[in-house]
Amino acid sequence: MADLSSRSQQDSVSERNINSAMVDSPNYDLIIRNGRLLDLSHLGNSESSPDEQNCDTRPELTDIAIGDRRILALGPNLPGHAQQIIDAQGHLVGPPFVESHIHLDSVLTAGEPRWNQSGTLFEGIEIWGDRKRALTTADVKARALAALKLQASHGVLHVRSHVDVSEPQLIALQALLELREEVRPWLNLQLVAFPQDGLYGAPRNAELLEEALKLGADVVGGIPHYEFTREDGVRSVHYLFDLATQYDRPLDFHCDEIDDPQSRFLEVVAACALRRDMGDRTTASHTTAFASYDNSYATKLMGLLRRAQLNFVANPLINITLQGRGDSYPKRRGITRVKELWRAGLNVSLGHDCIQDPWYGLGNGNPLDVAHMAIHCCQMTGQREIAACYAMVTKNGAQTLGIDPADYGVAVGKPANLVVLAGQTLRDLISHRGIVTTVVSQGQYLAQTSLPTTQWQP
Ligand code: FE2
Repeated sequence: MADLSSRSQQDSVSERNINSAMVDSPNYDLIIRNGRLLDLSHLGNSESSPDEQNCDTRPELTDIAIGDRRILALGPNLPGHAQQIIDAQGHLVGPPFVESHIHLDSVLTAGEPRWNQSGTLFEGIEIWGDRKRALTTADVKARALAALKLQASHGVLHVRSHVDVSEPQLIALQALLELREEVRPWLNLQLVAFPQDGLYGAPRNAELLEEALKLGADVVGGIPHYEFTREDGVRSVHYLFDLATQYDRPLDFHCDEIDDPQSRFLEVVAACALRRDMGDRTTASHTTAFASYDNSYATKLMGLLRRAQLNFVANPLINITLQGRGDSYPKRRGITRVKELWRAGLNVSLGHDCIQDPWYGLGNGNPLDVAHMAIHCCQMTGQREIAACYAMVTKNGAQTLGIDPADYGVAVGKPANLVVLAGQTLRDLISHRGIVTTVVSQGQYLAQTSLPTTQWQP
């Protein structure tokens, strides 16, 4: 008994010592040391003063401590131990990228069954119409997972994918619903029920879209400019808002993705969102016709957009290649008015849209390629404008996806989702399309990529 009592006293002394050591030197699951933390609070805001963070700001070095899947401490030279320590080597640390617009059902099908020779949206839709007859669950899941892993290797951990639901068996939707659950431990995937062939393009399309919502699609999609008539397009927008209200889902329209300056469904979407007070739950994707509207109409429209407070997604990689195909010269860029929307204080995000599919035969899912293209095509080359394009593939995308601000960003108490990015400033990062060297998802180390080295001959 005496021995046991003495052992018990020793145990409690050593426990006290350990506890006291933990107060002085806490134990974490993971510590990232020597990172430069990107502060997103003012980043890319159009009204920021010039002194606030821009693309040439070089943040101070800091450490980030993670435990229980959350960020527990932030600061320079943090005391403590961890099972795993990552040296960020003075590189940037930021939240994960957000892919706000992609089509995972069609990824990695370029050339099947034939290549898009005209390069137009409409030939792409025809080719996809043929390819989708050969869809199987295994085919969709394998390609979509490969694309998600590509994206995650580039630091993307939140993805909104449109899924074509104008296909009678809903094979792609069922496959992606399964995949959504399988990847949930490391990636947040939202699915938009998207009627690629038009809500009224075939008798069952409206019914199929509603069925997709019943099966668990997260977002209501639409494509009003592709309906047979202007009247059908307007009717589809009203119907889809009714459906979104009935099923309590946000909306994301393929809206005016055409060079036709008479395609004016954005005003219909904005008016519905304003009247139903659903602006923050409504997204207008593409809106490329906005670039072809004359300025007097565009100015009037901008007033409505400001009131409605919609989210916008531009897809510069795709629309710089798809649009303007019918033009000779001058040839339109076909990208929505990103700079003007951003200056108006509206939430603009950027999407990759396609990865090697009938509409775009290139791409590897890297959001820095998207931001880089936007900087060029939208002439966003000012210091705050470059920073804004980074915000458009991170925090603005999170807002478009409706992610709770408390769950996004690198700050104490938030979920431990973050990336280490090769570069010391945003200008470095975007100029070099800096490699994402480390991806941490839900406190777990998910992926690491080595920096390339160049050996020079003497
Ligand atoms: Fe799209």
